[in-house]
Amino acid sequence: MSNPRIATLDDLLSDGVSGRHVLVRADLNVPLEGGQISDAGRIEASLPTIRELSEAGAKVIVAAHLGRPGGKPDPELSLAPVAEELSERLGQYVQLAEDVVGEDAHERANGLTEGDVMLVENVRFDPRETSKDNAERRELAEALAALAADNGAFVSDGFGVVHREQASVATIAEFLPAFAGRLVEREAAELSSMVEDPERPYVVVLGGAKVSDKLAVIERLAAVADRVLVGGGMCYTFLAARGIDVKASLVERDLVDTCRGLIERFGDTIALPVDVVAAEKFDAEAESRVVDADAIPDGWLGLDVGPRTVEAFAEELSGARSVFWNGPMGVFEFERFADGTRGVAEAIVAATKNGARSVVGGGDSAAAVRRLGLDEAGYSHISTGGGASLELLEGKELPGLKVLRRG
Ligand code: 3PG
Repeated sequence: MSNPRIATLDDLLSDGVSGRHVLVRADLNVPLEGGQISDAGRIEASLPTIRELSEAGAKVIVAAHLGRPGGKPDPELSLAPVAEELSERLGQYVQLAEDVVGEDAHERANGLTEGDVMLVENVRFDPRETSKDNAERRELAEALAALAADNGAFVSDGFGVVHREQASVATIAEFLPAFAGRLVEREAAELSSMVEDPERPYVVVLGGAKVSDKLAVIERLAAVADRVLVGGGMCYTFLAARGIDVKASLVERDLVDTCRGLIERFGDTIALPVDVVAAEKFDAEAESRVVDADAIPDGWLGLDVGPRTVEAFAEELSGARSVFWNGPMGVFEFERFADGTRGVAEAIVAATKNGARSVVGGGDSAAAVRRLGLDEAGYSHISTGGGASLELLEGKELPGLKVLRRG
């Protein structure tokens, strides 16, 4: 990498952490259903750093957010269920402060002994966390740093938020020496390897609802990859750019010209579906049928890629040495439109078994892997970051990573 090196947990551990307060920013933003955690992937991914610090005798203070409470306390978005789950998975009691940087957080932080772990309440309950005003963010960052007392350190391990210019993510580094945790270090390395000299053939699979969310990443990846296989809601804007009438399918009309430009620029690199599963309406039980991509019935819309497309994509994937996948191929939340995503996900597992390195972007594709019951171990790496992973691949300098660079 041309960028200066990121300071890591190894650097901090070699400085020695025993008896020191270490503030860890984790991404514990897990989905809740009826107050229960429905996918603890991010908690699990945060354990190695917390555990290592605790075992090295640090007094660990974890800061994290849950949802978007809009800068005020919201009992529904308390980290209480997260603290419970974290305690269980860590095998150690994790106390939860009732505030972010208030009296309770201070008392608890002062009372920690070596190896203890505590969590402050949802950091977004404080409006200064996400404030656009630098001075406000600095105020909160300073208060968070004060929890870590005199000889404290900051460990950035919330990969899912490193693209956010927020107090506990980036500004905090003005007040404490900052280091990347294990998760952030690994995510940055895995994702960078997908844009910096990946082993070839390199096949990228892109899906998801909207082209607009992914334009920058498509451009960057199409310039590096040997093939970019496009499915999901966004393929209909590309098909429209090829002059195909996709009927009632989701099309971002203002981006049709842009997609045409990408097809012209990258030629055969971009592969589009040859068939789709079309439905009468957007509904889990809608009447549906497999049709050629240019033969969607009037008034119908494409909700998944078809079996011939899955076969063609799987064929491309079978010879790959590197694979990056972001975004489902269809509306996988509806069982009858999940086959495309399942088929492509399985083809990536098969490619991985054959020796390819496969990285799955976070967000919906990671959720699809879990929801479809696929084996997570079948992929080389599943990112915990949605927006963060895409922005990193776009080549943007992310605020939460920038502050970790030395030299
Ligand atoms: C995520 O869920 O992608 C991260 O936790 C970031 O959350 P945010 O999009 O609310 O900043």
